[in-house]
Amino acid sequence: MSAPVNVALNSRGKLASSLPAHQRAEIAELFEFRRAGYSLDAPFYTDRSIFNIDMEAIFGQHWIYAASVAELPEPGDYVTVDYGPYSLIVLRNDDGDVNVLHNVCRHRGARVLTEAAGSTGNLVCGYHSWTYSPSGDLIHASAPGETKFDKGCFGLKRAHSRMVAGLIFVCIADEPPADFDETSKIFEPYLAPHDLSKTKIAYQQNIIEEGNWKLVMENNRECYHCDGHPELACSLFPTWGLTDGVIPPHLEEVWDRNKEAQSSLEERCRRYGLPYEVVEELDTRVAGIRISRESLDGEGESFSPDGRRLSKKLLGDLRDFRLGRCSMHLQPNSWFHFQGDHVITFAVFPVNEHQTLVRTTWLVADDAEEGVDYDLEKLTYTWKQTNLQDKAFVELCQKGASSPAYEPGPYMKSEYQVEAFINWYVQRVQEHLA
Ligand code: FES
Ligand SMILES: [Fe+2]
Repeated sequence: MSAPVNVALNSRGKLASSLPAHQRAEIAELFEFRRAGYSLDAPFYTDRSIFNIDMEAIFGQHWIYAASVAELPEPGDYVTVDYGPYSLIVLRNDDGDVNVLHNVCRHRGARVLTEAAGSTGNLVCGYHSWTYSPSGDLIHASAPGETKFDKGCFGLKRAHSRMVAGLIFVCIADEPPADFDETSKIFEPYLAPHDLSKTKIAYQQNIIEEGNWKLVMENNRECYHCDGHPELACSLFPTWGLTDGVIPPHLEEVWDRNKEAQSSLEERCRRYGLPYEVVEELDTRVAGIRISRESLDGEGESFSPDGRRLSKKLLGDLRDFRLGRCSMHLQPNSWFHFQGDHVITFAVFPVNEHQTLVRTTWLVADDAEEGVDYDLEKLTYTWKQTNLQDKAFVELCQKGASSPAYEPGPYMKSEYQVEAFINWYVQRVQEHLA
């Protein structure tokens, strides 16, 4: 005789949690005893149960950056976005808005769309040809012999979407966090002048980093390691994240140059009515953000060896190439650099506890011609190199976290944003587990 299967079900018959209660309590304890100012304990980077909690509490609850409007310019264009156990279809509809659908067929669960991006009318599942409208309604299911089959009950599940300044965000929670409205109001005025609706993809790169998603985000929050980025250091001041009083002697000269470049950038921004002030709310709001406009070295236009423009066409209604970089970090999974001539978006999609997809997209003005207005190799060179270097750094840390000899180490002053990101993460998961 087989024993009854004992699973906790919530009111809608779903598994209430992927973890047994005692394990959940153990994990809650790990969060509670997190030592402030120190990197996380090894299981946060290596343990499948904590990864599952991350998917539930962070990627299952918060607004996630999915793609930019340039990736789906026409009605019917779509991208599929996969993270953890989820696969979503993000599809441009006839109204110009976006539909977000779970990419899980309501017949027997097959992936409906299998390409990373494309264009489609109706959505046809490849297994038994169930056919859905672009808004997810089931419009055709050949059902031999069926008499009581209510198609109205079997539409693709929908999720929430938001489009702000040409960036598309998705949220699979029943009730998305409300404070994204306020966060959007912070970043929209910074980004809107670059007008993403008039850009196109010059290049997109997908790399899998052999590291936990939090290590990817942590690595992005500090420039303590920027000596490891020789190409980036041509244009990005390696003093990023530092303040008067903590400048190492070898960077003092750079620091002076940086301050001078920043004050002339701010003067230009005031002239053009562009916001530039630092807004830093990494652990003080639900949708944690840091945004600012910061100077670049050399000509101050773009991420190139001499700081000069990499595309000849200005974006949007901008009137000057010397606008440095408007940079935004948005938790949990993205960062961006908006320059006068091009935009780079970075989306982080966790695969499992030790692998993360980092998607980098270079956008240029939609009338910029490759080979005429920009050279693709030059446009992408700095960040392709930088991404490879960052991938290596993340992977070194993942290896370390997997060693029995690992123990959390202290974050330095210049790593205060890493600490803030981790604070944010711990708070969000604790709220969810409470
Ligand atoms: S699983 Fe999609 S039609 Fe059968
Ligand atoms: Fe880096």
